[in-house]
Amino acid sequence: MTAEQTYETPDCLILPDRRAAEAALAERIAAQVCAKPHSVLGLATGNSMIGVYHALVGMHRNDGLSFAKATSFNLDEYCGLLAGHPSSFASFMREHFFAHVDMPRDSVHLPREDACAEYEAAIAEKGIDLQILGIGRNGHIGFNEPGATVTSRTRVVDLAPETLAANQRDFPAGETMPSHAVTMGIATILSARKILLLATGEAKAKALADALEGPIEPRNPASFLRLHPKVGIVCDSEAAGLLSSTRTHADA
Ligand code: F6R
Repeated sequence: MTAEQTYETPDCLILPDRRAAEAALAERIAAQVCAKPHSVLGLATGNSMIGVYHALVGMHRNDGLSFAKATSFNLDEYCGLLAGHPSSFASFMREHFFAHVDMPRDSVHLPREDACAEYEAAIAEKGIDLQILGIGRNGHIGFNEPGATVTSRTRVVDLAPETLAANQRDFPAGETMPSHAVTMGIATILSARKILLLATGEAKAKALADALEGPIEPRNPASFLRLHPKVGIVCDSEAAGLLSSTRTHADA
């Protein structure tokens, strides 16, 4: 029996454009926090997420959505950046989300290269209710690059050449970005109760199709998500462009 026959494919919500996909993911995060104010959220950074945080901040300001009782664990961080570096994921989260909502500072958790085991233990103790993911052009989730194993936990990894090429634009001109990062592992991500992955834009179409319809293997780390019983995909029509036609009308 092939991997495709063995495992159910995740629910896939395909929206007409990027903005609609970001709004749909934000609504699902808000619904989680409304249903369970003490939710533990696994959070992602990246350009795909900026609109999601913008929408959540809007709901906080205008609709009373509160994160006061919630806890967060971020997926990953670059190694070797000084505190406050503008391209760090800590700065990204502060700029796009934490500075604008009411999540208490000591409920926010960011991974550190010198404290991987402690991070893993803190996640295991609390348990993540909802893990948010983006996807790299090479299928990475967090910074679990191709080759990452299903048993991997929070650790320091080498960034793949295609990730270095894609993310260098987030660093000031003339500055070489770090070659290493700390990331939750695949097993850490799969320990979450629910997982939602956002994919937008044509550049993600191949990685998304391989993840959902190719073999479940380290070559595409996002394919491991099919081992989890509660995974949803939210994407726009560009990212869904290479999915099989039976799926392109699917809704979640
Ligand atoms: C970031 C992360 C990465 C990104 C991925 C997509 O915390 O975990 O896996 O989600 O690299 O990044 P963008 O959205 O910039 O294309």
